[in-house]
Amino acid sequence: MPCTPHLGRPPPASAHLFPLHVAGLVLSLCLSGSAQTPAQKLLFTRAHAVLEKHCFDCHGPEKQKGALRVDSLAALLKGSKESDNVLVAGHADQSEMVYRIRLPVADDDVMPPAKTPLRLTNQEILALIQWVDGGAPWDAPAAEAGEKEMSAPDVAELHKPLGVDLARSMSPEEEAWFKGNIEQVFANHCTGCHGPQKQKGDLRLDRAKLILAGGENGPVIVPGNPSKSELLVRMLLPKDDEDVMPPEEKGRVPREKIAALRKWISDGAHFPPPKSKLARGGGNHYTRFFDPLVGTDKRNIDWLKQNGVFVEPLIWEGGGLRVLFSHSAVALDASVFDRLKTWESHIRWLDFSNAQLTPEALAFANSLDLLLVLHLERTNLDDTLLKQLNSATRLEYLNLHSTQVSDASIAVLKKLPALRKLYLWNTKMSPEAVQRLEREDLRLVYR
Ligand code: HEC
Ligand code: HEC
Repeated sequence: MPCTPHLGRPPPASAHLFPLHVAGLVLSLCLSGSAQTPAQKLLFTRAHAVLEKHCFDCHGPEKQKGALRVDSLAALLKGSKESDNVLVAGHADQSEMVYRIRLPVADDDVMPPAKTPLRLTNQEILALIQWVDGGAPWDAPAAEAGEKEMSAPDVAELHKPLGVDLARSMSPEEEAWFKGNIEQVFANHCTGCHGPQKQKGDLRLDRAKLILAGGENGPVIVPGNPSKSELLVRMLLPKDDEDVMPPEEKGRVPREKIAALRKWISDGAHFPPPKSKLARGGGNHYTRFFDPLVGTDKRNIDWLKQNGVFVEPLIWEGGGLRVLFSHSAVALDASVFDRLKTWESHIRWLDFSNAQLTPEALAFANSLDLLLVLHLERTNLDDTLLKQLNSATRLEYLNLHSTQVSDASIAVLKKLPALRKLYLWNTKMSPEAVQRLEREDLRLVYR
């Protein structure tokens, strides 16, 4: 029996009924084979890199904290003295290791332990979850030899589910056009700050994968949709706008080049197919974009769409979903959020701007483990509603502009440990109160 990956699909409802030794049996079959398909190889490569960076020091050949090693599949399956479900392949929700890495930063049981300075990023957490859900493929030779190269067709294959068609051939004319317009603009105007040397806003514009992965606030290109593409939106801002790209002093990109970029994004933001085998390591290996909608029953998504709520895959490393209520008039009651149940653990971006907020809406946002970006601007948000946001431990971006929140909300905001960007313009907060929020790694934005 091949070791089939169930890429990211939620486990069957009966999963918890399976006795653990059954999971173990399936696994022992996986053990004999190594990772086979490109997708499995990539799952493995990414997960292994995370384990190596964050776990081997304490759970490897040198030390075995908690009597646990995580540097081989056999060891992971054996588990520790305490638990034999450290890894349950195919079932992230039953795997102790996944439970441990997803705990809030301050929890006593979180892994790596709270006192270690290195925290797992969301992408790293997702890499491990996807690997476990994908059947925990393990490629022993690759584990020893380090990262393996992937061939260009393999890479292209992995991008397909999200409509990023790297294998789509380009005529020599199309390719020359791409180089002369798109690549050139990035090289001449952007990569000085968004390239190998500097990564302002956590964004790189020098490679297809990195461009699609986006910056600190997520994807900057939405293929087919220029007006939702932050990259283009930033270039079109008035020249004295604080957010214009390139920044004011660097001059503007010529109008015809901006028009070319718009056309390119409208046409689907295609890149020329990769030519050669990809160089290994160095962060320039391609990543699989993971679409949590693939293979699920989408009737609820269709209902939402008919009601103006959009659920779209995020084209960034590790995948995830963006849910937009900003164009919908649907009442935000519990039944609406019930429709998103299947995908809850994938929602990383939630946009309620312009909507009529309810306590249920805030409770829903608060319940999402991996929520990174939350838009609440131009709503009826007030201190009472915001109070519900008390366990959004991974939230990095929060937009409150043009709402009724006041100084009473400072305490709530202070308890969001991962927050990096907070929009406060046109709220009722006083400058004195806001001072209490100041923190080196938090950017407060007033406009
Ligand atoms: C600085 C050392 C350190 C690092 C780094 C570390 N751990 Fe641990 N880990 C421990 C200690 C100590 C224990 C035992 C105490 C406990 O169970 O919390 C433990 C226990 C565990 C357990 C529970 C085993 C059981 O008996 O149930 C799991 C699962 C685990 N670690 C996974 C990980 C993973 C996955 C990583 C990497 C993401 C990691 N750990 C990184 C120190 C570490
Ligand atoms: C002189 C340096 C500089 C140049 C040149 C520059 N940028 Fe930026 N860029 C920044 C800084 C600093 C940030 C982070 C602050 C912010 O978000 O405004 C940023 C952020 C961004 C973001 C937002 C990323 C995110 O996720 O928040 C986008 C999109 C962007 N730049 C696009 C571009 C494009 C496109 C170009 C070229 C046309 C460009 N930039 C040129 C400095 C630069």
